[in-house]
Amino acid sequence: MKIAVLAGDGIGPEIIAQAVRVLTELQRDGLKVELESGLLGGCAVDKAGVPFPQETQKLVTEADAILLGAVGGPQYDTLPRTQRPEQGLLRIRKLLNLFANLRPAILYPELANASTLKPEVVAGLNIMIVRELTGDIYFGEPRGIEQRNNQRVGFNTMIYSESEIRRIAHVAFQTAQKRNRQLCSVDKMNVLECTQLWRDVVTETAQDYPDVTLSHMLVDNAAMQLVRDPKQFDVVVTGNIFGDILSDEASMLTGSIGMLPSASLDENNKGMYEPIHGSAPDIAGKNMANPLATILSLAMMLRYTFNQEVPAQRIENAVKKVLIQDYRTADIYESGMRQVGTVEMGDAVLKNL
Ligand code: IPM
Ligand code: MG
Repeated sequence: MKIAVLAGDGIGPEIIAQAVRVLTELQRDGLKVELESGLLGGCAVDKAGVPFPQETQKLVTEADAILLGAVGGPQYDTLPRTQRPEQGLLRIRKLLNLFANLRPAILYPELANASTLKPEVVAGLNIMIVRELTGDIYFGEPRGIEQRNNQRVGFNTMIYSESEIRRIAHVAFQTAQKRNRQLCSVDKMNVLECTQLWRDVVTETAQDYPDVTLSHMLVDNAAMQLVRDPKQFDVVVTGNIFGDILSDEASMLTGSIGMLPSASLDENNKGMYEPIHGSAPDIAGKNMANPLATILSLAMMLRYTFNQEVPAQRIENAVKKVLIQDYRTADIYESGMRQVGTVEMGDAVLKNL
């Protein structure tokens, strides 16, 4: 099994280093994996002139799974769009057909007070957001900024084919079957035709899954319900742009965006695994970032791509234990807890592993 490791920018290298320590420990215990690192994002722009160099394309194509830190930084925001770090990420998703993005939002009981919501609203929260990742307004053509009637206009295209909707719907229904069998599909069918089709196709697909209860919700209402009563959700399925927004919102229910892992899978469960947070340039290099989302992403990799449930749970249990033992990075710190940096959090996870 070959894992491509792309640390990326900002806090990326720091959080990836901790996940690699965990992997190394598992290797010692007999997990057969090989790691190879590559450049993606701003660091690739700096060293190779482009965000997704040829060499990295080869590496990720040949790998069985990819572990990614984060990409981006303010110094790159003024580059032409095609050279921005985020393009590297979008192009990997597209190149490898990673259309199914799983973003679990789980509240660890120890972090109930770290959420900005009342503990009773979020206690026991366990939502899985299934976000379509290779279509929608992110990739739709035509797109651009151009001159029309003496002024600039900006435009993008929201587009989904029924086959794209159907394949993500199947992933979502099957995910729901393994959980509480409740699937909520989120769209904006009262305004957007594209998402009317979304609703129609998800409804058709439901016929294959009589054991799953399907509901539909408009995205504005879903954004509201997520903070009003988040525990009503089990699995949520939605398109690329709505999923981008709702998954950031859902992450805060759990106390910190620094806790949430993600998996992006293709048809054969080849996957890219990354924390859902960004490169956090403001805290980069300060040993402050929370490495747990990245370490939990590793657990998802073992589960989804490598079918290794035992080491996956071993990692997840180690993370639960460090929280029980009161280790907290700054993003989840409350008074009375033991505040630690990135490396010390990695140490604590290793000790509990
Ligand atoms: C995410 C990120 C990316 C996205 C950015 C960095 C392109 O926000 O993975 O949610 O919008 O998909
Ligand atoms: Mg996002």
